[in-house]
Amino acid sequence: MSEMFKALWVTESGEDSFEQSIVERSLSDLPDHPLLIKVAYSSLNYKDALSAHGNRGVTRQYPHTPGIDAAGTVISDTSGRFQEGDKVIVTGYDLGMNTAGGLGEYIRIPSEWAIHCPQGLSLREAMIYGTAGLTAALCINKLRTAGAKPDDGDVAVTGATGGVGSMALAMLSKLGFNVAAVTGKLEASESLSKQGASKVIDRGSLDELAAKPMAKPQWAHAVDCLGGDYLFSLVKALQYGGSVAACGLAAASNFKANVFPFILRNVNLLGVDSVELPLAVKQQVWEQLADELKLPQLGSMAQEISLEQVPQYLDQIFNGHALGRYLVKVGS
Ligand SMILES: NC(=O)c1ccc[n+]([C@@H]2O[C@H](COP(=O)([O-])OP(=O)(O)OC[C@H]3O[C@@H](n4cnc5c(N)ncnc54)[C@H](OP(=O)(O)O)[C@@H]3O)[C@@H](O)[C@H]2O)c1
Repeated sequence: MSEMFKALWVTESGEDSFEQSIVERSLSDLPDHPLLIKVAYSSLNYKDALSAHGNRGVTRQYPHTPGIDAAGTVISDTSGRFQEGDKVIVTGYDLGMNTAGGLGEYIRIPSEWAIHCPQGLSLREAMIYGTAGLTAALCINKLRTAGAKPDDGDVAVTGATGGVGSMALAMLSKLGFNVAAVTGKLEASESLSKQGASKVIDRGSLDELAAKPMAKPQWAHAVDCLGGDYLFSLVKALQYGGSVAACGLAAASNFKANVFPFILRNVNLLGVDSVELPLAVKQQVWEQLADELKLPQLGSMAQEISLEQVPQYLDQIFNGHALGRYLVKVGS
């Protein structure tokens, strides 16, 4: 095994200015943790774009290798939890934030961050889902635990052309829900319909709801990737007893709210976190992704790119121009 490997490398090039390049790194540069993994695939997520563009809330210190998820093969594990050759998936915790991430050919991490790749899922498929698929499944589980059923009515999904949005749309549709895809890219309407959306809604129509204390009920439930006033506009336009799973902040982290939808319409605002989720729950949800939630079209749901192409796509995601999932082929 060579000591040297390729990795994305983000450096600070001036005040508030960051550069991305592909460099050779040494295994001895990686942190001193028990589990060494040869990464086969990673994927691009909104948080990677933030890390690559110097967001200190995600990554405090540079230079740094982003990549909040990875699927690969165990090289060694001094903790004894894994055997050489085991196929594993890593998402969340500190991977790619302040610990060198999956956009490099090797990672060395605490063994409590990894799960066995479920039977019925290849490493490639695992990273087509990636953090986005895991988060979409968590949102859907939250809605179903709160009682959501397909005959309740439409489920709105915001950020529908993005990673989490496109996964949530496909999974809800597979489970028999009618999905209203909310997007800022109406030119993607045809492709959203092909992915299972029964309606496509202009994201701008939610802006009209922002100033109102309540809105006419439009959706039974919702999955929100945007945060900000979009999130509370969804809450205001839920039918009686409806739920919103809130997982993102692609638009904003703050929103103005009132209590009317909660005390007059009995609605639920449900939080979703995929990062610090206990490992046993992550393993269960990955088993669902390999089974009950497995999408027949999964193999074609991502654009495959090389490590060298990552900087250009992270810029697109950062600028809100993401379209679906980006699978990164990292190692052989
Ligand atoms: N809670 C968790 O554990 C967790 C896990 C994963 C992701 N997330 C969060 O979920 C969100 C989505 O993640 P992702 O990986 O799916 O991101 P993504 O692939 O970049 O997709 C985000 C989508 O949101 C819309 N959008 C982007 N910028 C916007 C803006 N300024 N205003 C309004 N809409 C905007 C766009 O969709 P349209 O053009 O179709 O509207 C875009 O495709 C992010 O905030 C991410 O941090 C949270």
